Parts: sequence; structure tokens; C-alpha cells
Amino acid sequence: MDNLDQLIEQAKTDFLGCFKLSELDHIKARFLGKSGPIAEAMKTLSLLSAEERPKKGAEINQIKRQIEDLLNIRKEEIISAELNKRLEEEKIDITLPSRKFEKGSLHPVVNTISSISKIFHSIGFDVTDGPEIEDDFHNFTALNIPESHPARAMHDTFYINKNYVLRTHTSPVQIRYMENNAPPIQIISPGRVYRVDSDATHSPMFHQVEGLMINKDVNFSNLKGIVQSFLQKYFEDEKLTIRFRPSYFPFTEPSAEIDMSWNGGWLEIGGCGMVHPNVLKHVNINPEEFQGFAFGLGVERLTMLKYGIDDLRHFFNHDLRFLEQF
Ligand code: DAH
Repeated sequence: MDNLDQLIEQAKTDFLGCFKLSELDHIKARFLGKSGPIAEAMKTLSLLSAEERPKKGAEINQIKRQIEDLLNIRKEEIISAELNKRLEEEKIDITLPSRKFEKGSLHPVVNTISSISKIFHSIGFDVTDGPEIEDDFHNFTALNIPESHPARAMHDTFYINKNYVLRTHTSPVQIRYMENNAPPIQIISPGRVYRVDSDATHSPMFHQVEGLMINKDVNFSNLKGIVQSFLQKYFEDEKLTIRFRPSYFPFTEPSAEIDMSWNGGWLEIGGCGMVHPNVLKHVNINPEEFQGFAFGLGVERLTMLKYGIDDLRHFFNHDLRFLEQF
């Protein structure tokens, strides 16, 4: 019995000296295992008399339970110590400054297209688009530029095959729109266009915005008024004026070049004219009943003027020092 009392003290010391759950199991086996002191003591019960046996048995069980209680208490302690240790190790200092991340911005050409679209939208124009790979009919023929017409030489065209080109202007969107929509029509169409050309003022890919208005009595002064008030809004300059210089485009008659007042002089920003009757006929609109105007403006030009950019190539060089200014 003395030994068994000591056993509790021994278990206490051993348990307290243990800091790992895996080790605790070994210590437990030493005291409560099949060949441990408790089990051995149980075996000696058979040697006792019938009176002594229950009393002794109860004592051993009592000691066994005490050891089990001690074990369970230590187990809880170790579990919570391990948890605290992990919490400490994985602690996140939310007061530390965060890692810096690079924030992108919209390309200046994209910004221009969106402000052009907003302005035209506000005066009743829908914004539409068309494919950049265009067929010969929409890019040329329907725009009154038949095969072998000298005007085809005005465009240095990227040919995909005999029938398909990278569109050389946004004008084919006029055709696509009129094929699918009856007048009255008021649209603009901004987008990419392609020409075999590359220097400080030309890029093989650039952007245009096309405009088209078709109705029963649309005239040249409507065209002038709309283009001028667009430019006044875009450049935030109510005094800005425009002038038309006679020109030639196969798809308009009469045709004009659009110049706008700039720093005491004039600057060319696009072409325009009254839609040619042949163009209307190609899309089954009766030119006796409907007429309208069209224009095409250079988006890069408008962007360069607004932000004072001097070289077209800045737009496409992917130089972050340039792009980050917007
Ligand atoms: N498509 C012409 C070009 O790229 C620009 C243009 C001129 C568009 C006159 C028009 C227009 O709609 O009426 O050179």
C-alpha cells in the first residue's frame, strides 16, 4: 500500500515533467499499462482473504482513478500550452504596413474614346462597333470604292487574303449599321484601324471615330454644327471654330477636310461629307428619300492635342513612365 501511495507522487512528478502529448502516452503506459504497478497490484488480490479483497481492490481502484485524473489534467495543460504556442508563432501584426501593389490606369487613347462616346451620347448618338477583320465589300466596294478604283491606292492595306483585309478605316461600320438599321440613324463608331505605314506621325495601327447621321433632311450645316459643338465640348473651349476645306472621298459628295482653330492657326483633324447616293443604294436606303452626313476623326490626333503629346509612337511603346502620367 505504501508503494501505491508513492505511486501517485511519482506519477505527479512524471506528468509535470512531460510537455508533449506523444510522450504522455508512454508515461501513462508505465503507470496504467498491462504490466504496470496497478495491474501488478490487482494480480495480488487473489492472494488475499475474501474479507480483505474488496477493501484492497477498492483502494487500488481509487489510486488508479487519481492517476487517471492527474493524467487528464496534464493532458489539458499540454494541449492548451501547444495551442498558445501556435497562436503566438502565427500571430499577425495587423499594424504592419501592407505590401505595395502596382495600380494600373486607363490608356490615354481609351480615355479619349470614352469621353468622345460620352459627348456624342449626350447629343443623341448611339455608340456601335464592327469587326477589325473586314471583307472587301464593306471596307471598299460598298463605300463606293470598286475594285481597280484609284482610291484604293489611298489606303496602304494589310491584306489577309484576296477577300479579307484589316480594316483601313472605321467607315465600313457605316455600311454594317445601315444594313441592319433603318433611318433615322445617329451613330458614332470608335475603333482600331490598320495601314502599312510607320513613322513619327503614322502607326500601322491607330484609332478613328466614325460618325453617321441619316434622316430625311440632314444637311451640311447640321454636320458642321455637330462636329463643332463636339470639339468645343471635348476641348472645353467654347470659342473653338472649325472650317471645311474641299476634298475628295469616294463615299461622300461633297467631301471636305475638317480643320479646327488651334493656337492662332488651323489644324486638320479628319474628313467628312454628305453620304454618297451610291453608298445608300448599296444598303437599300433610297437616296431620294434619305440623306445624311458622315465624318471620320483621328483619335490619336485628338488625344495628342488635348494632352500636349508630341510623338505618336509614345502611345504604343509601352513605356510606363509615359503611361503613368495619365
Ligand atoms: N475613312 C476616311 C479615312 O480613313 C475618313 C473619312 C472621311 C470618314 C470622310 C468619313 C468621311 O466618314 O465622310 O481616311
